[in-house]
Amino acid sequence: MTGERVISAKGLAKRYDAFEAVKGIDFEVRSGEVFGLLGSNGAGKSSTMRMIGCVSRPTSGELRVLGMDPVKDGSRIRGRIGVCPQFDNLDPDLTVRENLYAYSRFFGIPRAKGRRRADELLEFFEIADKAHGKVAAMSGGMKRRLTIARALINNPEIVLLDEPTTGLDPQARHLVWERLHQLKRQGITLILTTHYMDEAEQLCDRLVIMRSGRFVAEGSPASLIRTYTQPEVVELRFASDDLRALAEKVDDLGRVEVLPDRLLIYTDRGNDVAARVRDRALGPSSVLVRRSGLEDAFLALTGRDAR
Ligand SMILES: Nc1ncnc2c1ncn2[C@@H]1O[C@H](COP(=O)(O)OP(=O)(O)OP(=O)(O)O)[C@@H](O)[C@H]1O
Ligand SMILES: [Mg+2]
Repeated sequence: MTGERVISAKGLAKRYDAFEAVKGIDFEVRSGEVFGLLGSNGAGKSSTMRMIGCVSRPTSGELRVLGMDPVKDGSRIRGRIGVCPQFDNLDPDLTVRENLYAYSRFFGIPRAKGRRRADELLEFFEIADKAHGKVAAMSGGMKRRLTIARALINNPEIVLLDEPTTGLDPQARHLVWERLHQLKRQGITLILTTHYMDEAEQLCDRLVIMRSGRFVAEGSPASLIRTYTQPEVVELRFASDDLRALAEKVDDLGRVEVLPDRLLIYTDRGNDVAARVRDRALGPSSVLVRRSGLEDAFLALTGRDAR
């Protein structure tokens, strides 16, 4: 499914003064792949993305993008990649369409072609009706879609998407997912960061989980779920508030986690566990058996506490 190596990093590190945000990571991305970087706030995802995007110099290590060195060949690389940064940096005084057109000029795309491409992208992200409005008057979610559209103006081979769907409503998020699938089908390589586990599970062929500047896990969404969590979760809700006491009564059935409003039991036999819970007459107000997802694996790896 995937082709030649388009990005490779060895011992890649980024330090801001004394603080080491990225602590020597190794990875490869192949052409046509959707590669995800997951991790809690401050894990080092954007720092990594900015180095790949040639806007931040690696402190040490080796990085190659399309076979080139981002420090020496930054402008040649930038011509062949698209970047949607975490925070929108659109020009608020220009119209929506002018924002795209100005970027096409920046890439030296001929005027007529740039206008055509801008219009296509406005259609693609369903913001054509806003084309002549000022960016300052757009909602946050529309700006986000425009920023993603702008990343595609130069028909890039690789697109870096740093939290592309943060702040989007459910319809807009689905639209973006569908568009990203289309790009993938065209063979474009996507590198994505997200805090939405359903998004990562749906879109990514392969992902890494970062913690404090290091990779702590790597694999396909399915393999991470398999490796780091049990296949099923039994969710128990009770009328009682003393969930800790109840947890002790079921802790022989699997790994138990106490949440503010429920208990979770991780197991490979959800229905059996649910039946055994019922046999113990603990009186749960609801018992739900579900399959584990990427979020369960992510939380098992990174913990539930916000740091
Ligand atoms: N320009 C900078 N100067 C100093 N420290 C920085 C700078 N940029 C990032 N950092 C620090 O580096 C660490 C990693 O930041 P980074 O933005 O890469 O995290 P992230 O994984 O993208 O987080 P988030 O999910 O919140 O976007 C954080 O501790 C952050 O405070
Ligand atoms: Mg970030």
